[in-house]
Amino acid sequence: MKSWPYPRLVAHRGGGLLAPENTMAAIRLGQSLGFRAAEFDVKLARDGVAFLLHDSTLDRTTSGSGPAGERTWDELAVLDAGSWHSEAFHGEPMARFDDVARALRERGTIANVEIKPVPGTERETGREIAIRSAALWDGAAVAPLLSSFSFEALAASREAAPQLPRGFIVAAPTEADFERLAQLEAVSVHCARQHATPGLIARAHAAGVRVLVWTVNDPPEARRLLEWGADGIITDNLRQFANRFPELL
Ligand code: G3P
Ligand code: MG
Repeated sequence: MKSWPYPRLVAHRGGGLLAPENTMAAIRLGQSLGFRAAEFDVKLARDGVAFLLHDSTLDRTTSGSGPAGERTWDELAVLDAGSWHSEAFHGEPMARFDDVARALRERGTIANVEIKPVPGTERETGREIAIRSAALWDGAAVAPLLSSFSFEALAASREAAPQLPRGFIVAAPTEADFERLAQLEAVSVHCARQHATPGLIARAHAAGVRVLVWTVNDPPEARRLLEWGADGIITDNLRQFANRFPELL
């Protein structure tokens, strides 16, 4: 297997549960707790601006409503993406991908960019995020790891920026998924914690593919997964994991 430059612990959605997901506040909180790697979700606004959001709609995590991909960035930028989490984050805006990339690079934080396309825009989103990532991390010591549940988005990202590493997110990988991983020339498979077994990890390693596991919040479970050979743990439990596993940050 090729060398693996990524830290073992990755902060899920920037700041796990401690801050509103996929915001700059979340990214900064993860950094302040010592996390050297952050996972976050990126999609495209109607005018092509890349921004962070998990859901396809605005309702759960912002003061807006309806499909996020139907809004321009100017319309998204005025929404409150913090109040849903807690009063302390009232007024926290949505985050633009470019601004997040800059904040990460300033502190040497490594990125796992999850390409999370608005449905129907898989190829376009994969291509655009790959091109932007290549530009934003130009000259970086460690390239961002692009990942996605969408095979189409990853295939498009490979065409646009073949030099950037790709991870295929599959909750419960099958043999057919290992064929897809090979087609994508992916360096990693990102599976759900319930489906991470010693057999699966060994199968991936035999194929030359690393294994990242999400979303692991229980320290003994994380320890067990690492003993089985998991290459990375994506967690929402930032404070406890930073305290228990400082050597894995
Ligand atoms: O990238 C791992 C994990 O974030 C995938 O699930 O729904 O949290 O984006 P989700
Ligand atoms: Mg994600």
